[in-house]
Amino acid sequence: MIDAQAVGKIIEKYDQSKLSIGTLGSHSSLNIFKGAKEEGFRTVCICKEKDAIMYQKYPLVDELIIVKDFTELLSEQLQDRLRKLNVVLIPHGSFTAYLSTEQLTDSLKVPMLGNRQLLHWEANRKSQEEWLRQAGLRLPATFKSPDDIDCLVIAKLQGAKGGRGYFLANTPKGFYKKAEEMMKRGLVTKQDIETVHLQEYALGVNVYPSYFSSILNNDVELLAMDRRYESAVDSIGKIPAQQQLEIDVAPTYTVVGNFPIVLRESLLPEIMRMGENVHKKAEELAPPGIIGPFCLETVITDDLKIYCFEISARIVAGTNVGIGTSPYAYLRYGENMYMGRRIAMELKEAVKQKRLHEVVA
Ligand SMILES: Nc1ncnc2c1ncn2[C@@H]1O[C@H](COP(=O)(O)OP(=O)(O)OP(=O)(O)O)[C@@H](O)[C@H]1O
Ligand SMILES: [Mg+2]
Repeated sequence: MIDAQAVGKIIEKYDQSKLSIGTLGSHSSLNIFKGAKEEGFRTVCICKEKDAIMYQKYPLVDELIIVKDFTELLSEQLQDRLRKLNVVLIPHGSFTAYLSTEQLTDSLKVPMLGNRQLLHWEANRKSQEEWLRQAGLRLPATFKSPDDIDCLVIAKLQGAKGGRGYFLANTPKGFYKKAEEMMKRGLVTKQDIETVHLQEYALGVNVYPSYFSSILNNDVELLAMDRRYESAVDSIGKIPAQQQLEIDVAPTYTVVGNFPIVLRESLLPEIMRMGENVHKKAEELAPPGIIGPFCLETVITDDLKIYCFEISARIVAGTNVGIGTSPYAYLRYGENMYMGRRIAMELKEAVKQKRLHEVVA
């Protein structure tokens, strides 16, 4: 485990007047790099050859490091190069998609914005639920056994990405029938079904509020809000019910893009309190709590109840809808504020106040 002391030692050797902001070339990298440039940082991008075109078309990167695979981030040689460039890494979705929690906490010896301890709370579905529940959020009910199903549930597979293989069921009988079908079609394995996580299906619309937890200001800011554009669920309604039944579509949730959302104002106080409470709970579980961006995945029902089913304690791609500006960032900062820039601002301020060690781990 890389602890605060180890990171502190690396930071001590850094030339903080030449700090660079670095990340993997995908997910929300353009958001992060644009923000870094606007705050006067040098930028370092670890990128696959095929994606380099993004940084030619949008020249936001000072140092482009081409790798075959993102796992090269674990190589001592690359890490040494990053440290020599005084890099602070900004973790995003591709970090957790390509590297394991253990690799991130034990083998990545480059300072990262955020709290590495929280990765363990986030990675495990049970502990994540514990965290959110203890923070007082409303979570969809969970069911221990398929035999207990007494309402519409979503069956989630362990470690599935983008909801692949998830399915819905209404009764125990319906569950076993669907599971059998899915296994026959090779969409899920027997083991998937044995370890399936059954969650009450919250019927409503998806809303993803993004916050920034500032350790320097001791404040949680609401900065952005989006919803996802998911294939195939968002396209099922385009074909008539008759054909839906005939082709037996499975509702997958592969994210293709995001839309900005402006929420009914009466919902904002609760959304704000949820962010505050999640951070407060994290302060207890893994001090000093969340550092920097985080996002809650919620569903809001027609009686205006907000259900939270997941947290990401890092920048999410949904904040890309705010590059330039968004209503919520505008309300707080005026024009030209967005998550990538807010991150850079915090790092700049941390250097100025000689508190960089407090915002990296
Ligand atoms: N309890 C729920 N009630 C209603 N819809 C849900 C619920 N849980 C998940 N969903 C829907 O399923 C989609 C995928 O679920 P979830 O976010 O848990 O999957 P995931 O594997 O974490 O995907 P990603 O990593 O892309 O977030 C969500 O975007 C949401 O639309
Ligand atoms: Mg999710």
